[in-house]
Amino acid sequence: MNADAKKAVLRMIPYGIYVLTANDGKGNVAAATVNWVTQTAFAPPLVVVGVKTDSGAYQVVKSAKSFALNMLGKEHKGLAFTFFKNATIADGKLSGQAYRKGTTGAPLLEAAPGAIECRVNSIVEQGDHHIVVGEVVEAHLAKPFAGRPDAAILEMKELGDNVFYGG
Ligand SMILES: Cc1cc2nc3c(=O)[nH]c(=O)nc-3n(C[C@H](O)[C@H](O)[C@H](O)COP(=O)(O)O)c2cc1C
Repeated sequence: MNADAKKAVLRMIPYGIYVLTANDGKGNVAAATVNWVTQTAFAPPLVVVGVKTDSGAYQVVKSAKSFALNMLGKEHKGLAFTFFKNATIADGKLSGQAYRKGTTGAPLLEAAPGAIECRVNSIVEQGDHHIVVGEVVEAHLAKPFAGRPDAAILEMKELGDNVFYGG
């Protein structure tokens, strides 16, 4: 296989940008910016997330058996970069961001235009990222929506010419 072709072709896949959060109720909270996300079924509503196995987020999601995906809006480029780094809770904020606790315990970012909460149904353990299969059990919309919801989401290509995850 041609390595350059592999990289270029895989980078043709378009991605939205999300902050994955989880709280295992044992003092471990995670928040990480992710892009390897898609819906995979209507009934039940399922989504999958590719989660780096050596990340703090993976450990917390595995232990919590639940997670949230906070949708980032076009104006949240800064937030995306905030959660590329290890998340910390201080002064009631998550890496400086206001949040509230969801029904699964996962932090929900107040700035996010929407969020879903999921129970982990299974984890497909293959590769350096495992596929976390989540059933959507709760959905939050910050305010009523006009227009296409997918027009609101921050996209990978908007993060900068040299920002990629995939390839
Ligand atoms: C552009 C970009 C996209 C990313 N997408 C993912 C992803 O889909 N899945 C993932 O597990 N990590 C992804 N990461 C890495 C996480 O953001 C990073 O591992 C995490 O924030 C580190 O925190 P932690 O180790 O405390 O969980 C991405 C990083 C970048 C720069």
